[in-house]
Amino acid sequence: MYMVGTVVIKWGGGLITYKDELCKPNLEVIRSLAEICSKTDKKLVIVHGAGSFGHLKAKNFRLAEGRVEGLQQDHAVVEVRQDMLELNHLVVTSLKSRGLDVRSFPPHEWAEGTGPFFSGDLPLHSGVTVVYGDVVEDQSCGFGILSGDDLMVRYATEIPDVVRVIFAVHGVDGILSVPPDKAGPNDLIKVWSPGMEFEGEHASEIDVTGGIGLKAARGAMIAQHGIEVTLVNGENYERLYNAIEGKSVIGTRIIAGNS
Ligand code: IPE
Repeated sequence: MYMVGTVVIKWGGGLITYKDELCKPNLEVIRSLAEICSKTDKKLVIVHGAGSFGHLKAKNFRLAEGRVEGLQQDHAVVEVRQDMLELNHLVVTSLKSRGLDVRSFPPHEWAEGTGPFFSGDLPLHSGVTVVYGDVVEDQSCGFGILSGDDLMVRYATEIPDVVRVIFAVHGVDGILSVPPDKAGPNDLIKVWSPGMEFEGEHASEIDVTGGIGLKAARGAMIAQHGIEVTLVNGENYERLYNAIEGKSVIGTRIIAGNS
């Protein structure tokens, strides 16, 4: 069989939800991303983020810290998992409505531990595989937040035939050298490697995972395996499509550097 190769794509949570309104999906973006993904003949693994379906409650109940004595967190663990299933359902439904053969694998059912070295065998479907950032069990902390960016590392480096990796993000054209609200076209870093300074969206008051810095770091881990990694503005659908097809686009190419 002729292999066209697999592309692993992250749909950032800030892209597919309205980040500061609890559990509010951006259906138009989800629909458009699904349409783009239906146009390629590449095999796809889609990893989606949480945005307002994950970060707000996770932050309130300090879920990223694991079990915290004196806090009633159990209900929040259940709720965030349910909220994520709901967002995942929207993603899967919209991909299926484009005729794609999709299967989703909720990480709390198969992954344990957080960070890129979490344990669990990566589930893979013969069609489009979908996974997402989730609240997972953790041996030492009870539970924790497994970021989609960590899932990206493992999928990109452990499944066969990965030809490239794309992080589709909200609000920026790539990694910037100045804060996003001050950036012009010349402030886009076209090629980024670890050690280079950059400015990220500062959302630590909302985010329980690492924002653009985590994507950059995880992207570099992936690039170390010789895989092409690009971070693009996910609201520019033409760019995203071209990136999937391997054409050069406006965005940031992440390389491993030689450190
Ligand atoms: C976070 O996953 C998961 C939860 C908060 C439950 P990500 O780190 O992949 O999410 P985004 O892309 O930042 O929203």
